Amino acid sequence: MSAKHVLTVFSGKGGTGKTVVSSSLALYCAREWSKRTLIVDADFNLPNVHLLFKVFPDATLGDVWSGRPGPAKLKSIIQTSELGVDVLSLFANTAKEMSRPALSRLAADILKLPYDVVIFDIGAGINNALLSFMPIADTALLVSLNDPFSFLDAFKTIQQLGRHTDHEARLCFLLNQSYREKDALRASVDLIRLVDEQLSVNLAYLGAIPYDPSIRESVSRQEPFLLSRRSPGAKALRAVAATLFGIPRA
Ligand SMILES: Nc1ncnc2c1ncn2[C@@H]1O[C@H](COP(=O)(O)OP(=O)(O)OP(=O)(O)O)[C@@H](O)[C@H]1O
Ligand SMILES: [Mg+2]
Repeated sequence: MSAKHVLTVFSGKGGTGKTVVSSSLALYCAREWSKRTLIVDADFNLPNVHLLFKVFPDATLGDVWSGRPGPAKLKSIIQTSELGVDVLSLFANTAKEMSRPALSRLAADILKLPYDVVIFDIGAGINNALLSFMPIADTALLVSLNDPFSFLDAFKTIQQLGRHTDHEARLCFLLNQSYREKDALRASVDLIRLVDEQLSVNLAYLGAIPYDPSIRESVSRQEPFLLSRRSPGAKALRAVAATLFGIPRA
């Protein structure tokens, strides 16, 4: 069965909050929306999703890879976390070296797994994981900080994406660690206009996540940020999840 919602979470610059956002959205889908949810750690170089969800696979993609893993073999390396989210870490050396065609076949196999929601946490910048998983996504979420370097990298990444892939995903933009909503909105409007004028790409503003010390604290404890909290970050992330997945809000 094909997944209903496939989301890629990416950025231009590193450290913008992709893992915080993707793990929080996965938790929301599994726990509050009761969806079968898979988070795929597609950061081949610096995977960390398994640490947050406290799952430690004893086999990796490399162990099951022989030409093509296939959905059945993939299942054997997916770990179910106590938080109700399933985790697939792509941290085998072979995955790192995999070509785009091989990663595209892997993407097709992941799509066949029985999940309602699949979220890809992708390493920063343009890389083979982004280019290969993007075509199967219905939504791509660009996470940026509110600073000129992050914006420049975000712009360049969208530009490169257009050059290297044919994708039909709707592109959304999320500003993280913003201090003032008004500034976030103004800066985002500028980026969206630039992307529209220079690249003819429609980038939708999804919202801003404020700087929230409780997010940093939960990451320091190596725990995913739980949206059941009442902090400003949790409130903003819940709103983002509802908009992204079209969930009616109570
Ligand atoms: N809204 C926020 N408020 C406070 N701290 C945040 C917020 N979002 C992220 N952080 C902190 O920023 C750091 C980077 O976050 P995260 O690891 O999610 O970024 P990333 O984009 O996945 O990084 P990488 O490119 O290395 O994969 C973490 O220490 C996290 O706690
Ligand atoms: Mg990350």
